[in-house]
Amino acid sequence: MSTIGFIGSGKIGGTLARLAVDAGHDVVLSNSRGPDTLRDLVTQLGPQARAATPGEAARAGDVVMVTIPLEVYRDVPVAPLRDTVVIDTMNYYPQRDGNFPELDADRTTVGELLQAHLPESLVVKAFSNIFFKHLPRSAGPPAPPTAAPSPSPVTTPPRRPPSPPSSTPSATTSTTRVPSLTAAGSAPVRRPTTPTSTRTACSPPPAGRPTPPGSPHSSTATDR
Ligand SMILES: NC(=O)c1ccc[n+]([C@@H]2O[C@H](COP(=O)([O-])OP(=O)(O)OC[C@H]3O[C@@H](n4cnc5c(N)ncnc54)[C@H](OP(=O)(O)O)[C@@H]3O)[C@@H](O)[C@H]2O)c1
Repeated sequence: MSTIGFIGSGKIGGTLARLAVDAGHDVVLSNSRGPDTLRDLVTQLGPQARAATPGEAARAGDVVMVTIPLEVYRDVPVAPLRDTVVIDTMNYYPQRDGNFPELDADRTTVGELLQAHLPESLVVKAFSNIFFKHLPRSAGPPAPPTAAPSPSPVTTPPRRPPSPPSSTPSATTSTTRVPSLTAAGSAPVRRPTTPTSTRTACSPPPAGRPTPPGSPHSSTATDR
C-alpha cells in the first residue's frame, strides 16, 4: 500500500484521508496551523495516520493531495514534491480567494497554476467537482474491467463501373469534388455557434440556479 500526503486536511482532505485509511493506505496530514491541531483527526483515523508539516507530508507521500484554498497555493512546498504525482482538488472562488486575473480572463486554469508552481511534479486534477459529503458514497472497490467494444465491421459500397467521359460533370464527379474553402464565392466555414457561457464550474451561478459542490454560494457555504 502507499503513503498519501495531505497538504490541507479540512473537509475534502479529512474525508479523503478517511477513505485512504479504510482502503489500507497510510496518510500523513498537514495544515497551516501545525501538527498539534490535527491530533483529534489523527486519533479518529487510527495508527495508519500521522500529522506533520506540509513539507514533511510532501516528502512522505508517494502521492500528495493539495487540498487547500487556492488563495494560498503558492505555499505548497516545491522541492519535496519533485517527481511526485500531486492531486489537486482546488476550486477558484474569488469571494474567498481574491481575484486571479488570469483565471477571470480564462487564460489559464487552477490546475495549470499549480503545475506552473510545481514544474517538476505531475499535477492531476481530481475531486474538485464533488461535494465532500458525497465522496464516501462514491468510494468502493475498482469496477471490473469491461471488454472493449469490438470494432464494427467496415462496409464498403459496391464498386460502380467508371462513368464514360463527359463534358458535363457527372453525379459522381460532382459529389467527390472537394470544394475549395478559399475559392471566391464559397461560403466561409463556420463552427457551430452553440451558445457558450463564460462561467466556469467555480463561478457564481446565476440567481435561481443550483450551486456547485462546496460553493460559497450554496446553502452549505461553510462546506466549500
Ligand atoms: N468542500 C467541498 O465539498 C469541496 C469540493 C471540491 C473541491 N473543494 C476545494 O478543495 C479545497 C479544499 O476545500 P475544503 O472544503 O477541504 O477546505 P477546508 O475545509 O477549509 O480545509 C482547508 C485546509 O487547508 C489547510 N490550509 C489552509 N492554508 C494552508 C496552507 N497555507 N498550508 C497548508 N495547509 C493550509 C487548512 O488548514 P488550517 O485549518 O490549519 O488553516 C485546512 O486543513 C478548496 O480549494 C475547495 O474549493 C472543496
